[in-house]
Amino acid sequence: MSDPGSGVTTTNGSGQISPDMIGSGRIRRGEEVLQVTGLRTQFGTTVIHDNLDFSVRAGEVMGVVGGSGTGKSVLVRTIIGLNKPRAGRIVLFGEDVAALSSSQWRAMQSRWGVLFQDGALFSSLTVAQNIEVPMKEHSDLPPALRQELIEVKIAMVGLPPDAAHKFPAELSGGMRKRAGLARALALDADILFLDEPTAGLDPIGAANFDSLIGDLQRALGLTVVMVTHDLDSLYAICDRVSVLVDKRVKVGTIDELMREPDPWIQEYFGGPRGRAAANSAAKSEGRAGEIAAPEQLPPEPGA
Ligand SMILES: Nc1ncnc2c1ncn2[C@@H]1O[C@H](COP(=O)(O)OP(=O)(O)O)[C@@H](O)[C@H]1O
Ligand SMILES: [Mg+2]
Repeated sequence: MSDPGSGVTTTNGSGQISPDMIGSGRIRRGEEVLQVTGLRTQFGTTVIHDNLDFSVRAGEVMGVVGGSGTGKSVLVRTIIGLNKPRAGRIVLFGEDVAALSSSQWRAMQSRWGVLFQDGALFSSLTVAQNIEVPMKEHSDLPPALRQELIEVKIAMVGLPPDAAHKFPAELSGGMRKRAGLARALALDADILFLDEPTAGLDPIGAANFDSLIGDLQRALGLTVVMVTHDLDSLYAICDRVSVLVDKRVKVGTIDELMREPDPWIQEYFGGPRGRAAANSAAKSEGRAGEIAAPEQLPPEPGA
């Protein structure tokens, strides 16, 4: 039996095929794979998150939005252990991360992939060498097998084979993002954190990257947490959206969030750009005309 919609078959630990088990086959679709509760993060006296709760279900694409400086990147960095919270609990795949031994933490690190806000490829390494970094760090794969896998990952993200031997500076912005995604997928991650993956791409490049993420998410049974300010991305691939407001998160579908009275949320989803994105999403689903056409669009606000 195959997973409806993806054509991918997964097996559970006993080797039995189960349509419910996704990702590396250890997770049941819909169960909460990430639970953040009572999170407080702070730099000096500046509080970024205060008693914040955030959770993500297996197999969903969770968008994360919020004004500039509201702590979206810090949230991701805190979840993956790069920033230490002042208070609160982070449970990933059922494990309280603060309670893990260092070897358990290393094993946990191989279960996520991350694409940082600025792509952050090592500029002195080729694309292939970049993808190899997490493989060397977190697996015992022999070099020949690593090379084969690198070729697979490069093809998976839609890069031509010869991109393997190029340095980041020799690639276009869109190709660099793809290379970063290939590195994030180097180890068969169950959850992918993407921080502004389409920032800096032109609208067509951004739309192509969104559909790539959507395709990979379905094919690999991934859970995705995607920080973005790109409304088209939210409509195109996110199942739910978390909005950072007042140091906490409000979560829902876009329709649910539009009923929130918060002024930032109202302006974001209900403003001209929000309506334009809703309209083009409706058009691509054949529902054009259901959403009021926006007036003249204002210039793109600084991200
Ligand atoms: N390592 C750090 N030290 C001090 N302040 C930081 C650090 N990282 C982020 N900040 C501050 O935390 C706030 C949230 O940052 P960030 O999560 O990057 O915002 P965004 O929502 O735009 O991604 C900002 O005011 C930023 O200046
Ligand atoms: Mg950020």
